[in-house]
Amino acid sequence: MGKNKISVYIMGKEHRVPEGLTIMKALEYAGYRLIRGCGCRAGFCGACATIYRKKGDYKLYTALACQTTAENGMYLTQLPFIPANKSEYDLEKIRAGPNTILSIYPEVARCVACNTCTKACPQDIQVMDYIQAVKRGDITRAADLSFNCLQCGLCTARCPAEIKQYHVAQLARRLHGRYLAIKSEPLSKRISELEEGCFENEIDEMIELKPEDLRKRYFEREIKVSE
Ligand code: SF4
Ligand code: SF4
Ligand code: FES
Repeated sequence: MGKNKISVYIMGKEHRVPEGLTIMKALEYAGYRLIRGCGCRAGFCGACATIYRKKGDYKLYTALACQTTAENGMYLTQLPFIPANKSEYDLEKIRAGPNTILSIYPEVARCVACNTCTKACPQDIQVMDYIQAVKRGDITRAADLSFNCLQCGLCTARCPAEIKQYHVAQLARRLHGRYLAIKSEPLSKRISELEEGCFENEIDEMIELKPEDLRKRYFEREIKVSE
């Protein structure tokens, strides 16, 4: 924690917080208890999507509160979650055709290619490009481009066409995984072995291990790549 202090404004009130804190820690240092809008604290879960302003700057900025350093003069708030309707579908009853996603999320056709979603994404994902891939019916490309999505919802919050990009991308990845990805024979074999209980003893042994021994075993493991 830095010795110097900076000013941040939360709900319009000035708070002096140590320099170098993340937005999330600055909010907590100022006395706010985050019950929603806070999860892994490590940039993985997407729960801490936040919107902020800077002094003298009219723009609204988007970020993950646990991954962004608070700056002097920031106006902060924290979103409990970003609402976005999710369509219902049964993955086993739909097929991966060029119009499948459009039939479930027809609003994708409203995309005006403004690229606001891409600019809002804290993961630097080409969000507009995966939406365009969905419009073209290219599920695999959409799944690939959206692979690092954290489901934070910031793209959705900023979209003028009210498209729920991250739900659309999740469906693309599900369809790709279920119907289009090349099947891995070694993986199928290993899943069958697990289902048959072939590794019960090894799993029981690992459950009993102390975390440090489990970690040691993880890093010392040998990965055999089949020819
Ligand atoms: S913000 Fe919405 S309308 Fe604009 S490019 Fe992204 S998906 Fe399309
Ligand atoms: S694509 Fe959207 S939901 Fe996914 S990480 Fe980027 S902004 Fe967040
Ligand atoms: S709390 Fe999980 S990404 Fe920030």
